[in-house]
Amino acid sequence: MKYPLIIGNWKLNGSNLMVNSLINQLNQKLFNIKNCHIAVAPPILYIDRVSKVISDNIKICAQNVDISLCGAYTGDVSIEMLKEIGVQYVIVGHSERRNYHKEDDNYISKKYSIIKSFDLIPILCIGENETQNKTGKTKEICKLQLASVLDNQGVQAFENAVIAYEPIWAIGTGRCPTPVQIQSVHKFIRDYIATYDMNIAKKLIIQYGGSINEKNAAEIISKPDIDGLLVGNSSLNASVFSKIVKIAQASKLI
Ligand code: PGA
Repeated sequence: MKYPLIIGNWKLNGSNLMVNSLINQLNQKLFNIKNCHIAVAPPILYIDRVSKVISDNIKICAQNVDISLCGAYTGDVSIEMLKEIGVQYVIVGHSERRNYHKEDDNYISKKYSIIKSFDLIPILCIGENETQNKTGKTKEICKLQLASVLDNQGVQAFENAVIAYEPIWAIGTGRCPTPVQIQSVHKFIRDYIATYDMNIAKKLIIQYGGSINEKNAAEIISKPDIDGLLVGNSSLNASVFSKIVKIAQASKLI
């Protein structure tokens, strides 16, 4: 049985007060949720604290990791450090890192590999920008971004892994592709992985991310190849995020 996976990516948001309040509310609202995998991705500074107080059924996701394990890399954090404080998922290839930190597919593939080699679960973000979308290049771009991991590490790298389809133009904009369009991209991704290994493709969790809220979540998550949601803005509000989790849980129970 494949449970939906809902992750709240807090990005660069939070304060001691805000984190305490969000965690208290999430614990109250979500502690008894079953048949749905839930995780939150706080800024690195808060991970240790969140990990100690969060309900057992809510897992911890890191927003980033370095490719080195130790040494003279000012400002970076290693996968071992993350694992030691209870991190289970790591986001890699998010468009904000590709864009603001100039991370390319080759570098992202190295990050992906280090996450896998320490048995953590990578959330590999892929997706097209607005121009690529308008010129019909969405699937081609997704394929290229997947190819860097496939070519370097083989299809086995997608065992126990997550792909998040996140059209860049939909992130933080309030605009989304239609559920039918998202389903079509997800099916394309699964079919592409299936050309390498059918079984891995079947089990693969493919999340959608980009302007998810409590109004659009139900129709999107109801599609057969949409296995989860990567939620940005809406995850900063405990009531909204909890509603999205419950919508996903109910949708995939049927
Ligand atoms: P958003 O962000 O929900 O605020 O659009 C999604 C993401 O970047 O993962």
